[in-house]
Amino acid sequence: MKPTRALFIVLGALILTWVSQAAVGYWQVGRLEPVLNEESNLTEPPVPSGLAHTGARVFAAEGCLECHSLSVRGPSSSADLTRGWGVRRTVPRDYLFREPAMTGFSRIGPDLSNIGARLPDTEKLMQHLYDPRLLKKSSTCPPHPWLFRKVPAGPRTEPGALKVSPDGWHQLVPAYQAKCLVAYLQSLTVNYALPEAPLK
Ligand code: HEC
Repeated sequence: MKPTRALFIVLGALILTWVSQAAVGYWQVGRLEPVLNEESNLTEPPVPSGLAHTGARVFAAEGCLECHSLSVRGPSSSADLTRGWGVRRTVPRDYLFREPAMTGFSRIGPDLSNIGARLPDTEKLMQHLYDPRLLKKSSTCPPHPWLFRKVPAGPRTEPGALKVSPDGWHQLVPAYQAKCLVAYLQSLTVNYALPEAPLK
């Protein structure tokens, strides 16, 4: 084969890869914008707080994605909606403010795309993080006690201390990472309508 022909083949393959992987992807989702909800005057998807933004990094660092996906599939390809994991499927626009955008694929545990609507209670989420068996005896979700400080119980209750004590002698005070992680979990909702994903 002549060297010029080989060069054209390599160049062609590179251009084809760029078009299929980068250009088509950008054309499909790169210019998506949030939608303004005229009733609440807020954007959809909602912009997460700074705390939730940091929580996304804690979620990634703690390996939650090893067992939990963040993507609800539609009724034609899964039973996600009947399992109650969401009220509609997730679409690319849902990930606009999620940096890094994590979808996950492992489903050892339930999908958490809509956990902020399913389990909004801060105390329950904190207790689940400390030890999931406090809320559900049979839970196989791993405990994350290192996200809490154990402070000796005294006359003074530490601000934000959990309502449960590990031994009666200590209070459990959420560390900054736990607060961020819970803010992130509470920010995970797909219960708003989008033009391409209306609520049924
Ligand atoms: C080894 C796998 C595994 C890892 C890692 C894991 N989980 Fe879980 N998680 C599960 C399983 C299985 C369940 C379902 C049992 C239950 O309800 O507790 C679950 C349940 C949950 C629930 C309750 C979901 C519901 O629908 O009520 C939340 C919230 C949750 N996990 C958060 C987390 C967070 C946050 C992390 C990371 C800090 C994490 N999990 C890491 C396996 C895991």
